[in-house]
Amino acid sequence: MKWSSKLLALAALPMALVAADGDDASASSSKPKPDKDGKYWIHGDGISAAFIPYGASVTNILFKDQYGIERDLVAGFDNATYYGVDKQHPHFGGVPGRYANRIKNSTFEIDGKKYKVKANENPTKEHPDGLDTLHGGPDGWDWRNFTVLAYTKNSITFQIVDPDGKEGFPGEVVSWATYTLNGRDWDFKLVALSTTKKTPIMLSSHTYWNLDGFANNETNTALNHTLHLPYSGQRVGVDNILIPTGDILANAKGSVNDFWSKPKQLGASFGDKDIVNNCGFNCTGYDNCYTINRQSLSPYDWRTSGPVATLSSEWSGIQLDIFTDQDAFQVYGCQGQNGSMALKKTQGVKTSRNGKDFPRTIAKYGCVVLEVQDYIDGINHPEWMRKQIWGPEDGPYVLQAKYRFSLTSEHKNKCDK
Ligand SMILES: *[C@@H]1O[C@H](CO)[C@@H](O)[C@H](O)[C@H]1NC(C)=O
Ligand SMILES: *[C@@H]1O[C@H](CO)[C@@H](O)[C@H](O)[C@H]1NC(C)=O
Ligand SMILES: *[C@@H]1O[C@H](CO)[C@@H](O)[C@H](O)[C@H]1NC(C)=O
Ligand SMILES: *[C@@H]1O[C@H](CO)[C@@H](O)[C@H](O)[C@H]1NC(C)=O
Ligand SMILES: *[C@@H]1O[C@H](CO)[C@@H](O)[C@H](O)[C@H]1NC(C)=O
Ligand SMILES: *[C@@H]1O[C@H](CO)[C@@H](O)[C@H](O)[C@H]1NC(C)=O
Ligand SMILES: *[C@@H]1O[C@H](CO)[C@@H](O)[C@H](O)[C@H]1NC(C)=O
Repeated sequence: MKWSSKLLALAALPMALVAADGDDASASSSKPKPDKDGKYWIHGDGISAAFIPYGASVTNILFKDQYGIERDLVAGFDNATYYGVDKQHPHFGGVPGRYANRIKNSTFEIDGKKYKVKANENPTKEHPDGLDTLHGGPDGWDWRNFTVLAYTKNSITFQIVDPDGKEGFPGEVVSWATYTLNGRDWDFKLVALSTTKKTPIMLSSHTYWNLDGFANNETNTALNHTLHLPYSGQRVGVDNILIPTGDILANAKGSVNDFWSKPKQLGASFGDKDIVNNCGFNCTGYDNCYTINRQSLSPYDWRTSGPVATLSSEWSGIQLDIFTDQDAFQVYGCQGQNGSMALKKTQGVKTSRNGKDFPRTIAKYGCVVLEVQDYIDGINHPEWMRKQIWGPEDGPYVLQAKYRFSLTSEHKNKCDK
C-alpha cells in the first residue's frame, strides 16, 4: 500500500473514535433513529438505502426504473430482527469478516506458527463442522451486530470490535464500515486495524442484486442481466469445493467465464457443457473469483479509470457500475436459492401475465452476488504476494468501492450525440 493512502486512512480514524466517545445517552436526544423495522435510511439524489447493525448489512436500495417505478434492488428481510432469526443465513448484504470467502482446511501459518480456525462449510463424517472456513467462521462478522457510530441524512458508520481468539483468529481487530449516498453513487469504505497481533484480514460486501427488483413479469431469474468485467481476463482456479488450487487461469475468449471481451448475459453460456461444474462439483453456473488486471493502466485512479464491473437489465433499464480499489471480484449466481426464501414486501410481481405464476420468493438463479475483494485464500498462497496478514505495525487495512446507479437509456443518449 502507498504511504499516502495509509495516511489518509489514519486521518479518518480519530473522527470515528471521537464519535464513539460521544455515543452515550446525553448525546442521543437529537440523534436520527432507525425506522420501526430497525432500519437506518440514508438518501441521495433519486436513491435511498437502508442499513442495519446486523453484519453492517444493506437491506434495501430503492431506485426508479425506466418507467419511473421504484424498485428495491437487493435481497434482504423486512426487518432487522429477522436477520438473526432466519436459519438459512445467506449473508444478505453484510460485511463478511475478518476473512471473506474460503480458507483451505481452515488453517494458515504466520511467522512459522500454524493456526486452526473454526470450520463451517462442507461437513463430512470425519470433519462434522466442515472442511474449510467460509466468511470468517460460524460466527463471522455478518452474524453479529455492529454498533452505529455516526448517522446522518446521507451516511452511516458502523463499528465492530472482534476479540483476540474469536473463531480461532489471533489478535483483536477493530473495524469500521462507512456507507454514503452521494448523488446516485453508493460509496463504501471498510477500514480495519489489527491492534495486538498479526492476523489475516480480507473483507468484502456481500450484496445480492436483482436489478428488476425481483418484479420482472417475464422471468423470475436474473439470467437475462448483462455483466461486463473488462479487466477480468483471468480467474482463480479452484477445486471441487471452491478452494483455490494456486493456479490463475485464463478466461479464454468465448468461454463460459469470458465476461471481459464484451458484455454478456449471465445465462448466455448455459448451453455450453463447461458451465456444468463451473461453480464446484455438480454445480451449474457461477461462483468464481475473477482477477482485476489493471497493471497496464498503472498508475491509475480507481475512481476515474472506469468501472471494474457493469451489470444491467434490459427489462428495468437499470445499470450498476462498480468502481473499486480491490484486485479481485467474486460473482455468485444464486444457484443455491431454491424458491424457499421470501421476497421483501417492497419486491415481487404485482400482476402476473397470462395467469403465469410468480411466487413471492427468490428463484434459483434469481439474483447475483458481486463481491469486491482480494485474491481468495491468498493467506495460503504466498506466491501471489498479496497483502493479507496485518499486524499492529502495518496501519489500517482499507477497502473502497463506489456503486453508481443509472438508466441504460442515459448511456445510449450519450453515444447518439
Ligand atoms: C420481519 O421480517 C420477516 C422476513 O422478512 C417477516 O417474515 C416477518 O413477518 C417480519 N416481522 C414483522 C413483525 O414485521
Ligand atoms: C441484534 O439486533 C437485532 C435487531 O436490532 C436484535 O433483534 C438482536 O437481538 C440483536 N442481537 C444481539 C446478539 O444483540
Ligand atoms: C489440515 O488441518 C489439520 C488440523 O486440523 C492439520 O493437521 C493438517 O496438517 C492440515 N492439512 C494441510 C494440508 O494443511
Ligand atoms: C432473455 O434474453 C434473451 C436473449 O437476449 C431473449 O431472447 C429472451 O426473450 C429474454 N427473456 C426474457 C424473459 O426477457
Ligand atoms: C447433481 O445435482 C442434481 C440436482 O442439482 C442432483 O439431482 C444429483 O443427484 C446430483 N448428482 C450428484 C452425483 O451429486
Ligand atoms: C431449500 O433450501 C433450504 C436451505 O438450504 C432448505 O432448508 C430447504 O429444505 C430447501 N427446499 C427444497 C424444496 O429443496
Ligand atoms: C410487465 O411489466 C412492464 C414493465 O413494468 C409493464 O409495462 C407491463 O404492463 C407488465 N405486463 C403485465 C402483463 O403486467
